[in-house]
Amino acid sequence: MLIQASALRVEFDGFRAVDDLDLTVQEGELLGIAGTNGAGKSTVFGAIAGQVSPCTGSILFAGTDITRMSIHRRARMGLARTFQVPREFGELTVQENLLAAARNDRHETLLAAWVRRSAAEQADAALRDQADQWLALTGLTAQASTLAANLSGGQKKLLELARAMMTQPRCILLDEPFAGVNPVLIEQLIRVLQTIHDRGITLIIIEHHLRALRGLVSRLIVMDQGRIIAQGPPAKVLDDPRVAHAYMGGIV
Ligand SMILES: Nc1ncnc2c1ncn2[C@@H]1O[C@H](COP(=O)(O)OP(=O)(O)OP(=O)(O)O)[C@@H](O)[C@H]1O
Ligand SMILES: [Mg+2]
Repeated sequence: MLIQASALRVEFDGFRAVDDLDLTVQEGELLGIAGTNGAGKSTVFGAIAGQVSPCTGSILFAGTDITRMSIHRRARMGLARTFQVPREFGELTVQENLLAAARNDRHETLLAAWVRRSAAEQADAALRDQADQWLALTGLTAQASTLAANLSGGQKKLLELARAMMTQPRCILLDEPFAGVNPVLIEQLIRVLQTIHDRGITLIIIEHHLRALRGLVSRLIVMDQGRIIAQGPPAKVLDDPRVAHAYMGGIV
């Protein structure tokens, strides 16, 4: 078992965003998480990756209790995530963003200027090769020298994934990786995710569009109001009346 969250509860000013949630993920799994707006999906990612502090419950990663561990220690253990709203360094080029991401012992909030200098000085050939590979796989090679701030919304999503890969993760939490990505790129992105998964990396993907997840994931979890309301093989979950009810019958 790679991730085991038990009785996880996250509250914001008394509002229970994640409500006593139990979640287990096997190493090498490709798991989808769906659910309505505000269901608590991103908050679960925050609790696992460390941006959000749960008020009760525990999270084990590869058998180690990470519930109160710093984001950076979790990253060093091989836990990476992407954000629903991309968090690129706008002042850095796309390639510099990748090189900076590889140094995951640094604080995310570091000044971009420092990261730029540091990335340029420290990046070795192997790292640059790695960055080139991920630029090619995510279709961003032509944008390598573009300032990340100038990328399109879809390209920023692709950059998020490439940045996560630069940390050489064991598991990536992907928060709506397809949102804003054009349909042609989505096809490509799905192939990239399958390639990553074939390398043995555990992937957990949040996605609204259940049908997009259907062909990709082997297990699907649906959340509503901070709880898991259904889980299992996608076809079975999509037929679950509780899911139809939560989606008000309008499963997309
Ligand atoms: N930092 C925060 N402070 C206060 N409330 C928050 C915070 N983060 C999330 N929430 C609230 O917690 C609930 C769950 O939010 P979350 O972002 O996890 O939902 P989600 O399932 O990812 O939704 P979406 O599909 O719209 O991204 C929402 O009601 C949201 O308003
Ligand atoms: Mg979200």
